[in-house]
Amino acid sequence: MKATARAPANIAFIKYWGKADDALRLPLNPSLSMNVSGAYTVTTVDFSPNYTKDNVSLLNGKFSDEEAARVIRVLDQMRTKVGRNERVRVATQNTFPKGIGSAASASGFAALTVAGFAALEVAPSERELTIFARQGSGSACRSIPDGFVVWRRGYISEESYAYSLYPHTHWDIRDILVIVDSTMKKVSTTEGMNMVQTSPLLKHRLDVIPARMKRTVDALSKRNFQMLGEVIEEDCLDTHAVMRSQVPSLEYWNTETQSIIYAVRHWRGEGIPVYFTIDAGPNVHLICEGKDESKVLSALKEVGGIESIIVNKVSEGTRIIEDHLF
Ligand code: DP6
Repeated sequence: MKATARAPANIAFIKYWGKADDALRLPLNPSLSMNVSGAYTVTTVDFSPNYTKDNVSLLNGKFSDEEAARVIRVLDQMRTKVGRNERVRVATQNTFPKGIGSAASASGFAALTVAGFAALEVAPSERELTIFARQGSGSACRSIPDGFVVWRRGYISEESYAYSLYPHTHWDIRDILVIVDSTMKKVSTTEGMNMVQTSPLLKHRLDVIPARMKRTVDALSKRNFQMLGEVIEEDCLDTHAVMRSQVPSLEYWNTETQSIIYAVRHWRGEGIPVYFTIDAGPNVHLICEGKDESKVLSALKEVGGIESIIVNKVSEGTRIIEDHLF
């Protein structure tokens, strides 16, 4: 009754920001992301009649009571779905600091979903797994399929699933994650996006997203890097404009974030094809092609205030692995 899964984090090119349904985590807009190779979660799930209570632990950190309750809620839904009632032990380990804005919750709930169903010896389709993971954390659905992934908006739960648009082998894109602050973010994504309707800019963003999704899909299909980079930055700036214009205003950037943005624009002027995107935190994801990775890394040597750098390639999705954590 024990299984272990390894799930990648993902970085959104077109971001999920806002829910149409809080409980089901139906998004207000479709999104598109790339799974990353350098930040992932490994989770072991063991259902057993020998356990008298549920026990969930984060091996390199500590779940808050709220986080543990969210994990248990997902496990309860899983037990209900398959008609089982054994108690469970869950251990989980992240390869990246929690709260750095590269969505530990995405890889976490993807790994929990895939390991959980495998432990219960049921085999839902990939689509069903993404629908399930979505209800733990929206962006988690995008960490299950391979490579470059679309999460459909969907107006009902069964239609809001994620699928692989292209496998990880399609295009050698890099996400160089520049960490300028590894402390836990103050406002969680769930809390932050709860207030999205207060932004006067939300409607505009929702109106332009379908065209933006099309451009991103087109850029990926043609492997047109400039087209891809431009749309990624456009959506990042637009998402952060929405965040900032919410009430209360959400400001995730710090001065280092801002200087890296300036530097990226300067490097592009000097002929380095690199673009930025930023999630709900101050850290910056530099997106480039594999052939330009070393140029970007050496340009970064000139920038102060960097705590660490994680170089990510495009990763496959969530996989079952044989090495259990306990
Ligand atoms: C800014 O998936 O963490 O990273 O569904 O409330 O758990 P919940 O939100 P979450 O939000 C991610 C927001 C984002 C953009 C993105 O990854 O698309």
